[in-house]
Amino acid sequence: MKHRSWAEPYKIKMVEPVRITSRFEREKAIEDAGYNTFLLKSADVYIDLLTDSGTSAMSDRQWAGLMLGDESYAGSKNFYHLEEAVQKYYGYKHLVPTHQGRAAEHIISQLLIKKGDIIPGNMYFTTTKLHQELAGGTFVDVIIDEAHDPENEHPFKANVDLNKLENLIKKYGAERIPYVSIATTVNMAGGQPISLENLHEVRSLTQKYGIKIIHDMTRVAENAYIIKEREPGYADREVSEIVREICNLTDGATMSAKKDALVNIGGFLAVNDDELFDRARNMVVIYEGLHTYGGMAGRDMEALAIGIGESVDYNHIKARVGQVYYLGEKIINMGIPIVKPIGTHGVFLNAKKMLSHLSKDKLPAQALAAALYLDSGVRAMERGVVSAGRNPENGDHNYPELELVRLTVPRRVYTQAHMDVVAESVEVVYEERNKITGLKFVYEPRYLRFFQSRFEIL
Ligand code: F0G
Repeated sequence: MKHRSWAEPYKIKMVEPVRITSRFEREKAIEDAGYNTFLLKSADVYIDLLTDSGTSAMSDRQWAGLMLGDESYAGSKNFYHLEEAVQKYYGYKHLVPTHQGRAAEHIISQLLIKKGDIIPGNMYFTTTKLHQELAGGTFVDVIIDEAHDPENEHPFKANVDLNKLENLIKKYGAERIPYVSIATTVNMAGGQPISLENLHEVRSLTQKYGIKIIHDMTRVAENAYIIKEREPGYADREVSEIVREICNLTDGATMSAKKDALVNIGGFLAVNDDELFDRARNMVVIYEGLHTYGGMAGRDMEALAIGIGESVDYNHIKARVGQVYYLGEKIINMGIPIVKPIGTHGVFLNAKKMLSHLSKDKLPAQALAAALYLDSGVRAMERGVVSAGRNPENGDHNYPELELVRLTVPRRVYTQAHMDVVAESVEVVYEERNKITGLKFVYEPRYLRFFQSRFEIL
């Protein structure tokens, strides 16, 4: 049989017009934004690939769920629906809702980390690491070396290097390691998955030393889908079963529901331990709201409960990751260097290689994101030195191996034609790369600087 195409498992019911700007308008907009795509107004953006966070299109069932919002201060029906969904699909015992992922990271970090502790993890995420540091801990990367090499095609680049982890435990002692931080998938590595084989091994090793695993489950369904596709022995397993198996190997999780779970706002902390739950439930009332809403409206919890079920549907996740692959393969075929394998939530351009004429202090990825916007109004995000921030001890820039621009694909929002426009813009910018001269900081806030820094052209 000849090749058969696949298409999205939905049709479009409502559209949101987008504005196509002139180059003159974009020149002014990016200059006003200090060459930081986070500071652009969305009205000036044509195709918005800044992030997949909170940018999904909800289904008609989720929109209907909004109408069922029970906005009682305490004990909302929607909370119990959400609790049921978390228990059913993820298998965690206790739910503490929060307004988004970083609020859950704050709570778990404050509860488990004490000054001087070490938190090993499969590469850092910006907010996760910052909350660990603010709680007095130090994050240590124990991901496999392959993850730092954009060209390495290891199928599970989010795997933990078990030797690095065990050496760290031996060096500091298990008492100083409150938990191992495991993310599914790893965003900063380029949207890369961890294998179940590796996670089972991490589980055995940590159990031997009595160390917990806290799971950043922000994109767990995408990770599970890749396990089904790539890991021997899982081809016939349901994505939902794989998700459960991942969660079962961990003691608790932080979730930014704005990604996998197809809602515009929301998150949670989930734990199995009764005593830890009791403390987390007490803490959430200080920072977020009562333990049956934690910063979310009743309607948001309903949409989330429905979204969790939709997120593990095979046809959904295949089309979601399939669209990212479509874009990635197009860019690869243009001979442009990207992180390989293609990520599940976005295509990560290798800015270091694309702009090899710029030294790292000229912020190549930040400059590339600005150039892309200028060419076509496509908004992307820097994931390199600006995102990596400074070393808290000596104040120097952290220069990560990976200097990337992320073209992040929102779920169920754009069409294949949009992906074509994006790829063509990347090609034009690449052809004209010698015109890009780099950027320098003119304003830099103290925390998570990538969000608000401003730059000037060198
Ligand atoms: N963990 C991961 C892996 C994330 O990607 C994010 C957010 C968070 C935690 C924090 O969750 O935003 O709900 O507070 N990532 C967004 C992004 C911001 O664009 O990648 P949050």
